[in-house]
Amino acid sequence: MTLYAHITGWGTAIPEKTLTNDDLAKIVETNDEWIRERTGIERRHIAAPQESSASLGADAALKALKVANLHPRDVDLIICSTSSPQHLFPATASIIQDRIGAVNAGAFDLLAACTGFIFALNMATQAVRGGSVRNAVVIGAETLSRLVDWNDRTTCILFGDGAGAFVIQGSDQPGGVISAVMRSDGSGGDLLSLPAGGSAMPATSQTVADGLHYIQMNGREVFRFATRVMANATRETIEKAGLKIEDIDIIIPHQANLRIIDAAARGLKLPMDKFMVNLQEYGNTSTASIPIATVEAVESGRLRRDDKVVFVGFGGGLTWGAVTVIWTGPFPSEKPVNFQQQRRLATVRSWLRRLVRFLEGLIWGRKG
Ligand SMILES: CC(C)(COP(=O)(O)OP(=O)(O)OC[C@H]1O[C@@H](n2cnc3c(N)ncnc32)[C@H](O)[C@@H]1OP(=O)(O)O)[C@@H](O)C(=O)NCCC(=O)NCCS
Repeated sequence: MTLYAHITGWGTAIPEKTLTNDDLAKIVETNDEWIRERTGIERRHIAAPQESSASLGADAALKALKVANLHPRDVDLIICSTSSPQHLFPATASIIQDRIGAVNAGAFDLLAACTGFIFALNMATQAVRGGSVRNAVVIGAETLSRLVDWNDRTTCILFGDGAGAFVIQGSDQPGGVISAVMRSDGSGGDLLSLPAGGSAMPATSQTVADGLHYIQMNGREVFRFATRVMANATRETIEKAGLKIEDIDIIIPHQANLRIIDAAARGLKLPMDKFMVNLQEYGNTSTASIPIATVEAVESGRLRRDDKVVFVGFGGGLTWGAVTVIWTGPFPSEKPVNFQQQRRLATVRSWLRRLVRFLEGLIWGRKG
């Protein structure tokens, strides 16, 4: 039996606080006109101190499960793609697993910068199609505002915080994710990086003094790379799916820069209205940008059941990729899941597990 991987749930978590271009002009030497003209961005959302990549990711995942009406205990796999993980380890996905009470799920992070969501979606698809996983949750979650240098006007204007998630479920009904393209070029790794804090350059007071724990970017080179790969990856995934560009109803690209999307549209000889664009509101939310734009497309009626959609992304690594999807929507289900109750239960379960571990430590400690 051939299994297909369908997208049956979706959700986002967006911090309430916004930072407009005019607000930014009070922090660094820039102005609204320059930012709009060069990027298309008007504002971005910034996480509150109590919010994190894991808390936003968990909120988005629960909303996606709610749309799919899938109980958290029925999730087998959680992949969190993030460029701003909670820690190097444990994985942000593990923290999300605990918060949502997905007690039967394996969870791991996937690091491919802004292309992460595309790669994670394809990995979850392959796991579902292979039959080892029935239900997966794929998350893109970011708090990039914590990793940008707020004195560097070439980067701090670009990025924003937020999270988005999809539920992927297997079925023998054709549709869902039908093709994918994944590419990397590590020779361009230095064009977009966060140099310090890893094993090559452990954090020291010197790395902090030199600002090496912040995002570093060669904007012009990244721009050139992005405009080159986006149209190519889109064409390739459509061809792999056995479709033609005119069969595609909507393209949902990584939301980095309006000029990059415009260049891709020209490269593909498509009008801009084929592309979902919402970067003016969120800036570049890295791995979260594609699911955030998708949820907006669904909620505004631009993306409907049976539509053919291409997701295309690019980012540090360098990495780029695209997937073609026949949009499905939730599977029919019987009993509605009480997600508020599940959330409370997950919190209690997590505390109980910590308590048991603490008590076991005392007992074993006494014996030792
Ligand atoms: C960053 C980016 C917007 C810069 O736009 P650009 O048109 O390439 O601008 P440049 O870097 O050539 O700089 C042009 C001038 O604007 C200035 N400038 C840079 N940032 C500025 C800002 N925020 N406000 C005002 N002026 C700015 C530069 O100092 C430069 O001045 P100069 O000509 O006097 O030297 C653009 O390169 C870009 O979007 N790159 C891709 C980045 C990206 O998407 N990264 C994420 C990938 S997932």
